[in-house]
Amino acid sequence: MKNVEIIGTGSYVPDRIVTNDELSKIVETSDEWISSRSGIKERRISLKENTSELAAKAGLRAIENAKLEAKDIDLVIVATTSPDAFTPSTACLVQAIIGAENAVCFDVSAACTGFIFALNTATQFIKTGEYKTALVIGSEVLSKIMNWEDRTTCVLFGDGAGAVVLREGSNGIIKAYMGSDGVNSKFLYCPAVEVGNPFAAEIAKIESKISMNGREVFKFAVKAMDNSIKNVLEASKIDIDDIDYIVPHQANIRIIEFVAKKLEISMDKFFVNLHNYGNTSGATIPLALDEMNKKGMLKKGNKIILVGFGGGLTWGAAIIEWTM
Ligand code: UT7
Repeated sequence: MKNVEIIGTGSYVPDRIVTNDELSKIVETSDEWISSRSGIKERRISLKENTSELAAKAGLRAIENAKLEAKDIDLVIVATTSPDAFTPSTACLVQAIIGAENAVCFDVSAACTGFIFALNTATQFIKTGEYKTALVIGSEVLSKIMNWEDRTTCVLFGDGAGAVVLREGSNGIIKAYMGSDGVNSKFLYCPAVEVGNPFAAEIAKIESKISMNGREVFKFAVKAMDNSIKNVLEASKIDIDDIDYIVPHQANIRIIEFVAKKLEISMDKFFVNLHNYGNTSGATIPLALDEMNKKGMLKKGNKIILVGFGGGLTWGAAIIEWTM
């Protein structure tokens, strides 16, 4: 089996910043409620660009950071809950925009855990020697599937994209773990279309909007992140004290605080940027990783845990060593 490492990161967010105060003009809420319950202060909202455009911009930046060209990429995987279309995949659209003409392209659907699932999928392909260089992107325009009349969800999410380039090389992706529970899928749900045709009794009209049981997702999230972190630590025989950073899915600061308490580790180990972007679902982890990379926080040899949870329900983690 080959070894796999991250050789580049990139991200892109739309320009438009929407503050909590602005949201309080749309739904009955306040900066005080949103900040104290979630930690979120503002988010980016796309005025025009769709998911593939955000993904392509983040992807190109990651390719540039890796000092490669788009034609060097032989696999593109996009994790998204908010694709441009049922078909083609967002990854195929990205391929066309960036000119990754030598790549095979497909999407992965695992909501907020999507990036971990996509990273692990690409890693397996590179490990077996099937592909050499993968572009893995998490990209979301959640604002288009938000119920803007539902204050319990619309204040939490935002738009954005993050990407990494993976390549055969050193042992940078040490271990990954993924889990799913379809039985509790209704806790976090966004329908597509129901069955409806001229032969059915009724032609269904369904709106694709996110709905969520926040309290249930909260409880699940703490358990799922705690389990996922413990799982990758145990599987890789690495002690939590040897971990330099944990990059969690950025949904709610209180969830991250609970996880830190459960694991009995300092909040200083967790990288948090949700106050600026809100929950960008599949994009939160690569967006955070790129911010850390750009800030020069990541040093060669650092051990980092990426961990997420989300709709599906799904959860997972990856333990990586920074080799750049
Ligand atoms: O990627 C996965 C995404 N999902 C998550 O991570 C969600 C996990 N859950 C959470 O983050 C939290 O459960 C929320 C932030 C969604 C809610 O926080 P909470 O502390 O669990 O609040 P709650 O649902 O218990 O609601 C408390 C009160 C309710 O009013 P009553 O029944 O006490 O009168 C809500 O109606 O807050 C009310 N409320 C709001 N008030 C002002 C709910 N949303 C809002 C709002 N502004 N935006």
